[in-house]
Formats: sequence, structure tokens, C-alpha cells
Amino acid sequence: MANVAALKDKAARAALEHVEDGMRLGIGTGSTAEAFIRALGERVASGLRISGVATSERTAKLCASLDIPIVTLEEMPALDLAIDGADEIDPALRMIKGGGGALLREKIVAAASERMIVIVDQAKQVETLGAFPLPIEINGFGMMATYLAIQKAAAALGLGGDIVLRKEGDGPFITDSGHLILDASFGRIPDSEALSAALHAVPGVVEHGLFLDLATFAVVASDSGVTVIKRR
Ligand code: A5P
Repeated sequence: MANVAALKDKAARAALEHVEDGMRLGIGTGSTAEAFIRALGERVASGLRISGVATSERTAKLCASLDIPIVTLEEMPALDLAIDGADEIDPALRMIKGGGGALLREKIVAAASERMIVIVDQAKQVETLGAFPLPIEINGFGMMATYLAIQKAAAALGLGGDIVLRKEGDGPFITDSGHLILDASFGRIPDSEALSAALHAVPGVVEHGLFLDLATFAVVASDSGVTVIKRR
């Protein structure tokens, strides 16, 4: 079996074939997105002209180190193509994202892009979302009240499980936008649209990691090659 890093690289390079000269790109976060950024860096070094908006400070730093031109979303608010990884993806191209903590900027950038290509290795494919804990970005104010409201909203949909504050070192993990993340182990999520709406209705929730109706197609790398999956 090919190693996971090789599969990520394969998906990344297949997605790169969709990048054209002059494009305005949304550039994702995570290890698969990093494989894409490194491959993009090679193309930029050999003459490809693109402008990119980074979905995290981490991505912006890596792009800068590879001389990939980065602008802000304020400077370039409409993008042609976003390319990003995912923690889970189902056959309808619904995803869980945010394992790397960049979900808010990733979702804003994906929504500002005409198309989104998701790059994953085969291990990310699931029939139903939810084995991966759902990241929920929340405001620090009233964190406990928000936690309880999320628990109640989920319970109304028949979802339980642990909801834990993401940690980094001795303190909480702080996102690029200064928020906190709760990781919710709901287990199988049969109705992600309903959960998305219920979470958005909780005032302290800034954003959640359910990405629905955003992916145009997914490039899935497996031992037997690369498959393109369009929305069912
Ligand atoms: C970052 O916040 C995430 O949404 C990542 O895109 C996602 O976690 C996939 O990351 P890997 O490619 O590292 O698995």
C-alpha cells in the first residue's frame, strides 16, 4: 500500500492540473493542502502566474517561503478556485473540516470561490459523516453557556457524545481569528443539514466544520490511482 503522504501528494498534483495561468486561488490548510502548496510552488517557480488567498496564517507563511503570491480576501474578494483538504467526505461531497483549526477562514474562502476542489486520500471517504469529531468554532465569551446550548441543540436531533475544548500545550487552542474550538464526538450524523442549521442558531457559535454544498468535485487518491468524484 502506498504511504499516506504519497497519496496526499498524488491528489494534490492531480488538483494542480486544474489551476490555470492568471487564476485567483483559495489555498487550503492541512497536510494535504501543504502537499498542494509545495507542488504549486514548483509551478510558480517555473512561470505560472496566480494570486492566492490563504486560509490560515500557517498556509500564508508556507506560501511566502515558496514565493507564491498571497493577497488578502479584502484585496481580492472573489476567487476562481479553492483547493483544500478534508477530514471526512461522504458520497454527496459533504465534509467535516477543521481538524487543523482553520475551518472559519476555510469556509469563508470556499464560499468566495466559484469552484472548490477537495483533495483527499481514500481514508477520508465515509458513507456517513461523524466518525471524525466535528470542530465547532466558538466565541470565548460565555463559553459554558454556548457549550450547553450546543449540547441541547444536538440532543434535540438525537445526537450525544463528548464535546471537548481543544487544547494546545497548557492552554486552549486559539484560532487565527481569536476564537476557541469545541470538538464534538457526535458519532454518525444522519442529517448534517439539520445539524448545521441548529448549530448556526446558537449565538456563541462562530462557525462549524460541516461543509455542505461547497465542493465542486473531490480528487481522491488511492492505491489504484486517482478518482474524481462529482456530487451525487
Ligand atoms: C484544517 O482546518 C482542516 O480543515 C484540513 O483541511 C483538514 O483537517 C484536512 O487536513 P489533512 O490534510 O492534514 O488531513
